[in-house]
Order: sequence, then structure tokens, then C-alpha cells
Amino acid sequence: MGEQLVIQGGKALSGRLPASGSKNAALYALAAPLLTSDPVTLHNVPEIADIEGMGRVLRALGASFEVDGEDVSIDASGVTETVAPQDLAIALRASFLVMGPLLARFGEAASPSPGGDVIGVRPLDVHLAGFRALGADVRREGQNFVARGRLRGARIFLDYPSVLGTVNVLFAAALAEGETVIVNAAAEPEVAMAAEMLVAMGARISGHGSNTITVDGVERLHGVDFTIIPDRIESGTYLLAGVATGGDVAIEGARADHLDSLLTKLAEAGAGVEVTPQYVRACHPPDGAPLRAVQLQAVPYPGFPTDLHAPMAAALTQAEGVSTIHERVFENRLLYLGELRAMGARMTAGGQSVIIEGPTPLVGGAVRALDVRAAAAVVIGGLCASDETIVRDLVHLDRGYPRIEERLTALGATVFRR
Ligand code: EPU
Repeated sequence: MGEQLVIQGGKALSGRLPASGSKNAALYALAAPLLTSDPVTLHNVPEIADIEGMGRVLRALGASFEVDGEDVSIDASGVTETVAPQDLAIALRASFLVMGPLLARFGEAASPSPGGDVIGVRPLDVHLAGFRALGADVRREGQNFVARGRLRGARIFLDYPSVLGTVNVLFAAALAEGETVIVNAAAEPEVAMAAEMLVAMGARISGHGSNTITVDGVERLHGVDFTIIPDRIESGTYLLAGVATGGDVAIEGARADHLDSLLTKLAEAGAGVEVTPQYVRACHPPDGAPLRAVQLQAVPYPGFPTDLHAPMAAALTQAEGVSTIHERVFENRLLYLGELRAMGARMTAGGQSVIIEGPTPLVGGAVRALDVRAAAAVVIGGLCASDETIVRDLVHLDRGYPRIEERLTALGATVFRR
């Protein structure tokens, strides 16, 4: 049956936690060393299963990959293979990020359509159109997408500001000949960090963090010693757990400027929000009143992140009034709904919208973690519930939340694995 997380809920979470390194940004940073034959060292890499998964893909390509706690060393000087092995690549979606670097460095790359959470169709057209615009010949050969050719800079309009798509095109453009302008690029902090890492490796990039990124291709990139940014989604999840349980949680090292949308909604819901250079803190409404319902849409950055939709929905079960969340990024983000309803939440879905009536006292029971963020939602639900909640399918939870039971325990929760 696998491990389960047992949550004895009903306690207000309170205390301070250091932010973990960003899961998604770390995955992008693991692919970047394929662009160089110099060694790369990364710090603040979260200890989660996907990092090892990406490491297996890199090793299969001929790179060395060593993990020492939160430090990871990668040396891609020995890479000879340009085909990502199917069995390893399909385990995580970020594995498709080997395409851009391999194509740019070796003139050819192949990878199967990758896996990851089952949260929608998740096509790859943005990546593939970007490679084509840079001059590559891209085709499907059996299970693999194959790209070949010498890359030349181009003006590239992305049909959608895909996060991984932007990073893949950025990687390819870094070593392409001449100037590339990526229009309608993703502006997520993790994308901007990937660009910063490339700049530290000798790339010429400007505009990252905005929707137009300009890349002046260089002939070679060198090694780097680089630190991963804090995980805004993990930080946001703990802040929401604190507010939802009537508690008071501070995340040390969290970047408030990456959390504008969440902090604004928390303040609108009546929560106390404090931002200092050392930490970001959120607590139950200071006047003792219940949280208030809010309306929001999950959209690309700097809008409210789709990755906090499910945790926010769980927290809003404790808010007074009718909240609505409209999901505009993925079409299958509502996997948490049935689980939270089983815990007593009053939630209804219509298309991509969820209506939440609150406040509702939640009850425990056995629930499943259906994707990484749905997992976070049921954990928040369990922390709010007055009795015991058992969360199954922890593989999803563990993909996004390193040492979650230890961290929740540090905040005063009663949570353990068995
Ligand atoms: N899309 C396209 N064409 C493409 C690629 C994407 O139409 O070629 C569409 C997707 O179908 C979806 C939307 O664009 O509707 C957003 O997809 P995007 O490509 O931006 O997402 P992603 O890059 O595959 C990353 C994160 C997700 C996060 C999204 C949005 C990784 C490994 N994944 O996915 O993280 O939700 O960006 O911010 O970095 C998570 O951490 O829980 C997670 C799912």
C-alpha cells in the first residue's frame, strides 16, 4: 500500500521555517550544464525525487552527476549521447529540457514526450516551434521528438508563454549564431533565474523576467557555481497552511517580490501579512475575525500561480463567504476537489471554475494525493480538520515538498509517516 502521512489536525501552525530551494528552478538549472564542457556546481537544491530523476537522465547522456545534500555537481564534458532514454525521460516533464542544450551544443537532440503530473494535455508545440524558428529540423521519429541543425538567432513569438518552452528556447538560443528575441516569453522567476545562470556562464541575455527576452548568441559557455532561488510555491503553501489553521507562520529567505499575488489575496482575505528583508510572514486576521472569501484567477506570472490554486482552495474552505477560483493555465487542476469534498468542503466546479462556500469545519478520513499541488491541498485540509487524516499516494507530495512532516512538526503540527 505504500507509506501514508498521518495528520492529527486542529492545531494552529505557528513558527518559522527556512524556505527550500525552488523545485522547478532547480530542474532547469540541472539541464543548463549540458551547454558546457566545464563543471557546474549548484547550491540550495531541494532534496526531492525529481532531482534524482533528472540526474538519471543526465547520467544516461554521459554526464557525471553527484549530489551531496543540497549541493549538486554536474560535469557534462563526457556527454556523447544526444538521445534521452525513454524509460527515464518519461518519468518527469522537465526532462524535455535536455533538448535545447543538446541541440545547441551538438546539433542534434532527441527525447520522448515526457511525463510529470497528469494535470492537462501539456503539449510541446511551443518548444518545437521555437527550435524550428532557430533553424532546426524537428520531426517525430517513433516515440521520440528529434531536432537537428545548426541554430541561427531569430525573432520568435511563443503561442503561449510556456514556462518550460521558454527555458528550452532560451537554452538553444544561448549558443545560436546571432540575436534571438523571444516574444510572449514566460516571466516566471524560475525562468528569470535560468537566464541569470546562463549569464553567469557567459551568455548574453537581457529582458528576462519580462515577456520579451533578447539573447545574443555566444560560441561557448563556461562553468559556474550557482545558488537556486527560494521556492515561492513551497513558501506560499506553508503560509497558507498557517493562515488556514488560524496560526502564524514566517518563511525565512522567502522572496516577497515573487509572492505579490498571494500576499495581496491573503491581505484581501483579512490575514495579517508582514514582509521584512529576513522573512515573509502571514497570520490569522489580527482582529480575531474569520478569513474573508476572495475571488481569483490562476494565470501566468505575475498573476496568481496555478501551483498555488489547490492549496489556496483548501485554505478558502476556512473563509467566510463565497470564494471563486478560475483556473486559466491547466485544464485539469481540480483533482483536489473530490478529496476536499470528502472532508466536508463545500465546493462545486463549473468548467474551469471552483466555487467554495465557507467557513466549513473539515473532518478527517483517508484521502489521496493526486498530483503534487492537490497533495498540498489535502494536507492543508487535514491540518484544518479536527480529527485524523490519512494521506495516501505520497509519491506526488514528495515531488514538491522536501521533508514535509519534519517541517510541519517544527510549526507545531502532529504529522508523521507510517
Ligand atoms: N502549453 C502549450 N504548448 C506547449 C507547452 C505548454 O500549449 O508547448 C500549455 C499547457 O498545455 C498548459 C500551459 O501551456 O495549458 C502551461 O504550461 P507550461 O508549459 O507553462 O507549463 P510547464 O512548463 O509544463 C511548469 C512547471 C509546472 C507549473 C507550470 C506553470 C516544471 C517542471 N513544471 O510546467 O509546475 O505549473 O510551469 O507555472 O517546471 C508543479 O510544480 O506543480 C508544476 C506542475
